[in-house]
Amino acid sequence: KWSSPPPRNRFQHPVSRQNPCKKYVEEISQLPKEKGWRGLQELFLYKNFWFYPVFLKGALHARDHFQAQPTDIFLCSSMKTGTTWLKALSFTIATRGHRPSDDGSDMTTVSLRTAVPHDCIPFLEFNDYSTAVTGSEIPLFASHLPYTCLPKSVIDSDCKIVYICRDPKDTFVSMWFFLRKFVAGKNSTDVESFASIDEAFELFCKGLSSHGPYWEHILGYWEARKRRPEKILFLKYEDLVEDTQLWVKKLAEFFGCPFSAEEEREGVVKECSFESLRDLEVNKSGKHEKRGRVIENSAYFRKGVVGDWRNHLSDEMGKKIV
Ligand code: A3P
Repeated sequence: KWSSPPPRNRFQHPVSRQNPCKKYVEEISQLPKEKGWRGLQELFLYKNFWFYPVFLKGALHARDHFQAQPTDIFLCSSMKTGTTWLKALSFTIATRGHRPSDDGSDMTTVSLRTAVPHDCIPFLEFNDYSTAVTGSEIPLFASHLPYTCLPKSVIDSDCKIVYICRDPKDTFVSMWFFLRKFVAGKNSTDVESFASIDEAFELFCKGLSSHGPYWEHILGYWEARKRRPEKILFLKYEDLVEDTQLWVKKLAEFFGCPFSAEEEREGVVKECSFESLRDLEVNKSGKHEKRGRVIENSAYFRKGVVGDWRNHLSDEMGKKIV
């Protein structure tokens, strides 16, 4: 466990929220672009991956200013592959047993009871950490960036990375519901202005989705893992569902804080189960903000099952996406 953590802020150059990086807006405007999913902004091609501007601005800022420490650990994923769950598990594993220090200050001032997992472990590309809970000094960060788009210092510092992926069919369905909700906001009539599941499916298959092509995202980390097997741990959402205890053990070992014989892994598993997290008041009625957009925490807890795609896609579509 981390008794004397390095400072959490990794940016050499803070971003002003009032002036969101004009130079990055300029850089993005020069990139190839395509229509995104109807109801959302255009997608921009950067280093062979498609990005919505909100993610890309943060990625470019991180490229230029994020300074990783060798002890940092990154939880990386495409959208809707189990990021929230991985954050909850990692945070719980890393902070278990933390007690207030001698001077009375606790290393972790947040818990899953009071904050959505995204506010416990920040995304490095959402660089205005004002929305991430402060006070937590554990060196865990998250990112949706493809491997080749990670800030150079993350690679040069030989940081550990945990990557989670998921069946593309379930990932797509989860993404469609999440983004539709995001577009609709409170106004359910806006749902009509969002891409139908068929339209979005065709675009997803062509690689046109946030941080897509999805397979290339996975492949980038997969190839990197072959080169650095001791530094990159690969997880599948489906395996995590199948045997959460086993993967909690592996995660703790990978983080360098293995469970002792007496310690209960079952408690971590239960605390982070879909039902436990979904039913917490903070996740039922809380909201959090990302770059000026308010997101209801409940949006991160839809069904949490394997194979839900069968309720929304035909067999033919299922074969096409694989
Ligand atoms: P579904 O939409 O299929 O239900 P991300 O966190 O990357 O945005 O991924 C969201 C997906 O993970 C959603 O899938 C969500 O329900 C599921 N999820 C969230 N918390 C979970 C948990 N504790 N256990 C299992 N699945 C979880």
